[in-house]
Amino acid sequence: MQPEAIDKRSLPQHVAIIMDGNGRWAKERGQDRIYGHHEGVISVRDVVAVAGEIGIQYLTLYAFSTENWNRPKAEVDALMELLVATIRKEVDELHKKNVRMHVIGDFAALPEICQKEMQEAIDITANNTGLNLILALSYSAKWEILNAVKAIAQKAKEGVLNPDDIDETVFHSHLCTHRFPDPELMIRTSGESRISNFLLYQLAYSELYFTPTHWPDFRRAQFLQAIADYQQRERRFGMISEQIQSTK
Ligand code: FPP
Repeated sequence: MQPEAIDKRSLPQHVAIIMDGNGRWAKERGQDRIYGHHEGVISVRDVVAVAGEIGIQYLTLYAFSTENWNRPKAEVDALMELLVATIRKEVDELHKKNVRMHVIGDFAALPEICQKEMQEAIDITANNTGLNLILALSYSAKWEILNAVKAIAQKAKEGVLNPDDIDETVFHSHLCTHRFPDPELMIRTSGESRISNFLLYQLAYSELYFTPTHWPDFRRAQFLQAIADYQQRERRFGMISEQIQSTK
């Protein structure tokens, strides 16, 4: 599939991706799981490039979940090293492509070197106006929602916030994604049909796209296919089809 096949007038503003299947992809080839993560980086590069080219404004990648800390130490260390090496290697190219980098998640839980590299990339790209690339690192939606609840409760306790004034806008402003619109499309690779603690609040009305393709095989063509699939869908937000048609 080519970018020309995509209707630029009905693009999702924000696409979120659960990049799954690196380990299985490697195992199928008789390789170490880490090899799968390295190949997964090529898919990240491809998808970031094509998302920017077609005009997607926000791309969130679930790169490391809170639960991923429970993996064998060697794999966690390898993933952190890969993250640092990738950002170090790619930041100039991302900057040239006008990509702005963001991180969501428990930033303080990341190794110091990882925090430093990420912060530098965020600072270097801070004034860019193209694709917003959001890496979810040490992220889980339950962690995020609990943090928001705690912050709101603290403000209520201090008398800064009246509990009667807590509405969707107030709650949303305490999420770590508060600067970004909710994703219209969530993609998960590798055949699992789960959300796995990813953006639980923000995905309330997102279209979900599940593909059996493992992440290292998910490249430009597969991303464009997912966008084309999204463009075939009718988003009703609880209304009926005729109401949606009459607003078009
Ligand atoms: C899921 O595959 C993938 C991850 C937990 C890590 C994703 C990381 C990368 C693609 C590399 C670094 C990313 C960036 C943004 C530079 P899995 O290990 O759960 O695979 P499995 O389900 O087959 O075991």
